[in-house]
Amino acid sequence: MLETNKTNKVNMRTIKLAPSILTADFSKLFEEIRAIERGGADLLHLDVMDGQFVPPITFGADIVAAISKITNLPIEVHLMVTNPEQHIESFSQTADKINFHFEASDQISETIDAIHKLGCSAGICINPETPVDMVNNYLEKTEQIMIMTINPGWGGQTMMFEQLNKVKELRKTIDIHKYKTQIEIDGGVKIENIGLCAEAGADTLVCGSSVYNSKDKPESNLAKLRSAIPD
Ligand code: DX5
Ligand code: ZN
Repeated sequence: MLETNKTNKVNMRTIKLAPSILTADFSKLFEEIRAIERGGADLLHLDVMDGQFVPPITFGADIVAAISKITNLPIEVHLMVTNPEQHIESFSQTADKINFHFEASDQISETIDAIHKLGCSAGICINPETPVDMVNNYLEKTEQIMIMTINPGWGGQTMMFEQLNKVKELRKTIDIHKYKTQIEIDGGVKIENIGLCAEAGADTLVCGSSVYNSKDKPESNLAKLRSAIPD
C-alpha cells in the first residue's frame, strides 16, 4: 500500500511536493499525471522554456491549458522565458501560480502586480549566480521565491548544495519579518538530499527526475521521497 498525503512537518512547516513533468513520458502524459495524483502530489510544476532564456524549448500556454483539463492538481508554471511580462496573461487562464525569473525581467514589481491582477499567485525564481538578497524588496508582495539549485534548462542535474545557504538565509529573513512568502527549491531534489532541503527551510520541493525515471513507478518514487522527509 502506497503512503500518500503524509504530512511531514519540519520546524512547524508542512512540506509540499511539486512533481515536474520535464522527464515524464510525454507520449502517455495522462497516465504520468494520474500516477503522481495517486502518489499524493501537492501541485504540478510545469517548466516553460523559450530557447532564449534557456537553450531548450518545451511548451507554451496551450499545452498548460490542455494539461489543466486532465488534472485537478493546482498548477504552477515556471517561466524560463525572456520578457515574462509579455506572457503572463495567456498562462493565467489556467495556471494557479506563475513563477518568473528575476534575471529575465526589468519590471519585477509591475510583473508581480500584473500576475495578481490576473488572479494568480506570483513567484520569483533566482538562478544560482543571483544573490538571494536581490529579492528582499519583493518578499512582502510575492507568494513565493524559488531558489534554483541547478542551472535552469534541464532535468536530471546534480544539486548545487551551496545554494541551500540561500534557502537558510531567506528563511531567516522571512521569519524575522513574519512574511507569508513561501520558499521553493527547484533542481536535483532526491531522496538522499530531501531532508537537507526541508531542514534548510523550504516549503515546497520540485521533484523531476527523482519522480519520473526508469527505476520505479512515479507514484512509488513520490511516496518514497515523501517518506524521506524527516517528521
Ligand atoms: C529545470 C527545471 C526543473 C526540472 C527539475 O530547469 O526548472 O523543474 O524539472 O528536474 P530535476 O528534479 O531532475 O532536477
Ligand atoms: Zn522548474
